[in-house]
Amino acid sequence: MRKTISFQTSIQLGAAILALALLSQIMAGCGDSPNKAVTVEKPNGRAMYVSYCEICHGEHGDGPMADMLKVPPPDLTLISYRREDGKFPEAQIHAIIDGREKIAGHGQGDMPIWGVTFHQSEGIDDEAVLNERIDMLVKYLESIQRKPEE
Ligand code: HEC
Repeated sequence: MRKTISFQTSIQLGAAILALALLSQIMAGCGDSPNKAVTVEKPNGRAMYVSYCEICHGEHGDGPMADMLKVPPPDLTLISYRREDGKFPEAQIHAIIDGREKIAGHGQGDMPIWGVTFHQSEGIDDEAVLNERIDMLVKYLESIQRKPEE
């Protein structure tokens, strides 16, 4: 029962964030954004992160919505560091972002199920396109990994 509710909430939350994301992309278009690739038509990893993820994860787990969440959103620049082997777990991160497959050891939190959200709100029906979008995010996250205090 609780699971169903939190699943629904995740989707609604995801949809709300997508709406916000679209708004911020429109506003970014009016401002002095240095990155011309920030458009809805031509997605890239960084632009997607700014649009969909920063509201919770921020730069270092400190997005504007972070305080409202039961489970704090992790600092996504420290994924590799938090693992003992220091390697970036590409496939696992892909699966976590997609969220449709349950991952052992990964809590429910309020992390939206992007596999569902991208599919519903952006009308991405093609599984390959959906995976490509998630891959862009994964590659972006991999590129921002760091060691703390350095
Ligand atoms: C509504 C807030 C919210 C948004 C928006 C959000 N996340 Fe999350 N995310 C979370 C929370 C909370 C967790 C921790 C979940 C848990 O452990 O149960 C999390 C966990 C993660 C993790 C797992 C990190 C780890 O080290 O295990 C990844 C990867 C991640 N998010 C990526 C993303 C990406 C990419 C986006 C944008 C497409 C995104 N998140 C958007 C809240 C959010």
